[in-house]
Amino acid sequence: MPVPAETTYNGKPLSQLFAEERSGWSGYVEWEKYPEKKALAREILKTHTFPHPPEFQFVPLPDTNPVLIGYRWKDYHKALGLQSIVNYSWEVVQKEKPDLIHLLDFPYNGETTRDQLLEGKITDNMHHFVRNHGGVPAIEEDAFELEIGGLVNNPVKLSLKDLKDPSKFPQCEVTVTLQCSGTRRIEQIREYPGDGDELINAPWGEGAIGTAVYRGVPLKKVLKRACGGVLPECQHLEFIGGDTYFKKGNVFNYAVSVPYRKVRMNEEVILAWEMNGKPLPKIHGAPLRLVVTGYIGARSCKWVYQINALAEPSMGPVQSQEYLYYTSQLGKQNVKYSNGFSIQQMPVSSAIISPVDKSVIVHDGSIELKGWGYSGGGNWVERVEVSPDGGHVWYAVQPEDMTEKHYHAWRLWKIKLPVDAEGWLEFCVRTWDSSNNTEPTFVRSAWNWDLHVTSSCHRIKIYSVNKTRPATAKRLEELRARGESIEPLTRPLEYTIEGQDEYLTACKNYPREPLS
Ligand code: MTE
Repeated sequence: MPVPAETTYNGKPLSQLFAEERSGWSGYVEWEKYPEKKALAREILKTHTFPHPPEFQFVPLPDTNPVLIGYRWKDYHKALGLQSIVNYSWEVVQKEKPDLIHLLDFPYNGETTRDQLLEGKITDNMHHFVRNHGGVPAIEEDAFELEIGGLVNNPVKLSLKDLKDPSKFPQCEVTVTLQCSGTRRIEQIREYPGDGDELINAPWGEGAIGTAVYRGVPLKKVLKRACGGVLPECQHLEFIGGDTYFKKGNVFNYAVSVPYRKVRMNEEVILAWEMNGKPLPKIHGAPLRLVVTGYIGARSCKWVYQINALAEPSMGPVQSQEYLYYTSQLGKQNVKYSNGFSIQQMPVSSAIISPVDKSVIVHDGSIELKGWGYSGGGNWVERVEVSPDGGHVWYAVQPEDMTEKHYHAWRLWKIKLPVDAEGWLEFCVRTWDSSNNTEPTFVRSAWNWDLHVTSSCHRIKIYSVNKTRPATAKRLEELRARGESIEPLTRPLEYTIEGQDEYLTACKNYPREPLS
């Protein structure tokens, strides 16, 4: 078969124009150091038309897995001859994350299932959620180098061997919950659709959150020992990742920043190479990533190869134009980057993971619920409360029914609630953190155009069938004897529910009409 001719631009093959930067770093193209290369990419992208992102807010989500397909992003890569990044990323997903709910195939966004969430305090590496803005690079450990520059006393380049050498940098292990600010976004979408971002605002449920023990070195120590500290003007640390990111026809490497104030907290900003005692999986940023405790997941830059000490926050679009929190009157008609505030520390939030919304539960006067509660900024979870009546009466989870406290991690919880009432009931959960913060009561109170931080009380509706009630016990016995079930709830009963004699006797005792 003839080999297809390579796509060229002005006579030059795309593979030369946008070549991989270093050997041993496959899938990594450097953009930030070469403004002229970015300009050329923009010029080429202008010669193409790209499909719009799929509409999934005003119409039901497809019942498929992957749920959504990233046609636009794939075409962006193809237009610059970077198709192999798309293919490789999907290979990594199949190897490292075969069992997630694949919300978006590329850039890959995968959500942890309910069963996986409840497996324990620590999320298995195979089951931890993933949020990507581009493809997955494959960087060999021996070829890896971290460059630190900008407002530091001595700019340096460090190998992974240097970073892992305990005689050079003290190591730490920290238990950290990473939460995407889009967690539980589906609740906002269902009530009020919002921004249909170019990089799809994934319709996450309760599973864009996970907890792991990360091993690495505090960035503070690296700045001090390797760079001789930062200059007095340094206020922010910018992190650049090896993935390629597109926005409005422009191309970038992923870049975000955190305040130096945060980095100064010793074990709150970590350069990590290990996750739950194993080498960092490729999809989670191997060989090196940032882990920023208590902040929105977006700041924990994966595949980090460059750190810049800056006087101002990063101008990268992920930092300056995204992950912004707007008031509810800002939207397509008037929104600007400068009129939303930047989401950094995560607020307190929680979710009921079991039972699921719209379950029919046959019980004997009590129902067990399970879920998670989390708060950012070093505020740990103090109390979780669950309400069986939509938020009037609250029952506190007993301390022995919660996983242990951590400064920077969630607590899984369970509670058995007394439930006498039957029919549709609304349960909700709220968490209190160590600073006495709790959650807004309704989604509407927290709705925002970019659909971030759904921190309102998580609500589920369940249909209660209380078999301690005689009439219910009788009906359940009838169903059992006939080999039928209460579910599906909406399927009509196949037999007459009351004989004529019984009906007439009841009507005689309690006539339907007044007698006079
Ligand atoms: N770092 C890079 N380089 N590229 C990315 O797309 N996604 C961020 C962050 N770090 C991202 C990144 C976002 S939005 C989140 S929520 C977390 O990674 C998710 O981390 P995880 O995929 O390891 O769970």
